[in-house]
Amino acid sequence: MYNNHMTSQPAIIAHGGVGSPPEYRDGCVKAVERGMEILTQGGEALEAVVQAVAMLEEDGRFNAGRGSVLRLDGETIEMDASVMDAEGRIGAVAAIRGTPHPVLVARKLLETPHILLAGEGATRFAGQHGLSGTVQPSQEARRRFQEWQRRRGQPTSTVGAVARDRQGRFAVASSTGGSNVMLLGRVGDTPLVGCGFYAGAAGAVAVTGIGEAIIKRMVAKAVYDGLAAGRGVQAAAQGVMKQFPQEIPLGIIALDVTHGTVVANRPMAAFLKFGEGSG
Ligand code: GLY
Repeated sequence: MYNNHMTSQPAIIAHGGVGSPPEYRDGCVKAVERGMEILTQGGEALEAVVQAVAMLEEDGRFNAGRGSVLRLDGETIEMDASVMDAEGRIGAVAAIRGTPHPVLVARKLLETPHILLAGEGATRFAGQHGLSGTVQPSQEARRRFQEWQRRRGQPTSTVGAVARDRQGRFAVASSTGGSNVMLLGRVGDTPLVGCGFYAGAAGAVAVTGIGEAIIKRMVAKAVYDGLAAGRGVQAAAQGVMKQFPQEIPLGIIALDVTHGTVVANRPMAAFLKFGEGSG
């Protein structure tokens, strides 16, 4: 399955959500540098994407962690997150509250027989594993909510990372505060396998945009199927993008055994880096 007989060139891509200002790219650069440090030391792709996404959750400018968009009540933050690697390990949380790092809770779930925990159960699970914490909405989160109240504009959506490690293993992690307008309890694509994320022997894919539209089209699996068919990341991602309604924001990052791509129909902060090693 994996490229075990030879050393792979490590690679990682991080994004700050479709609609995130490209001038916020420095946040993605930092996340990628953190992930690449892990990869160049021989660490796992899974650890690299988790640490990259955790940095984006801390940033405050992106719609994840303390930067998460507020629910319709203007106060509550509920978040979704996921991790997956090419061995088929999947952990996800939905509508979780009271943790600054939903992605770490999703990773912790890999140690249980479960794949997806939601709501109060997810929040309690985080507490049981020392992952609770106050999520004080960032200035950017409050500003976005006020702007939405004024203009009913589209929010930025989701952070994510995909990586390939030296053993040729792929992984993906994503995290989000959701998308406006959201009722309490609403869950988007980010914790749903094949919708907001997918990883396998052929590559890894993370998706950002309006969850409802992404779920209907199972965007991450559609891109992955293109990779598995040998179409290459660029053609696979662009093929799915072409089929997607262009009035709805969509961003895709994907890596395969040799290449990586960032495709979006709106501006999007993102960064891709290849490390040392044979391809
Ligand atoms: N893509 C984030 C969401 O719609 O929840």
